[in-house]
Amino acid sequence: MKIFVYPGSFDPATKGHIDIIERATNICDKLIVAILVNNNKKPTFSVEEREKQLKEALKGNSKVEVTSFSGLLVDFMKEINATIVIRGLRAVSDFEVEFQLALLNKNQNPDIETLFMITSPEYLYLSSSMIKEIAMYNGNIDSYVPKCIKEALEKKYVK
Ligand code: PNS
Repeated sequence: MKIFVYPGSFDPATKGHIDIIERATNICDKLIVAILVNNNKKPTFSVEEREKQLKEALKGNSKVEVTSFSGLLVDFMKEINATIVIRGLRAVSDFEVEFQLALLNKNQNPDIETLFMITSPEYLYLSSSMIKEIAMYNGNIDSYVPKCIKEALEKKYVK
């Protein structure tokens, strides 16, 4: 059984993340969306909120499981018996960080393979932080995030 792990902050998930998840499920048997619990960062949405949002946005996809993890990704992957990480690439600037992350993970555990999926062109310019800024100033985010996340952002930034 081919299990992919798609780790990330997802604060919040964008349509770019959802697109990667949906395309990745075409080539795996099971995809675990793993939300990082990062105690060094103050997220906009709690892990519970992000987990709920992702479950709602992905509820039609039976291959997807949404969960969270803390600590090293390699340790989490060992725990669940997975060896394949999937990450999206939007631009050359992403590549540098992703290359480093993939090599560090491989160095920690040589069994781990990272697969990169190129973001669909319509989502190339999306980032969670930019979307939050637009939402904060009441801009239109309809085409950037799933409906449930748009509603959560509107609620968060209600004046
Ligand atoms: O959505 P993001 O913030 O780009 O995701 C980054 C993430 C969660 C994939 C990465 O920070 C991660 O795997 N963190 C867990 C800690 C870890 O294993 N770090 C390894 C490199 S030192």
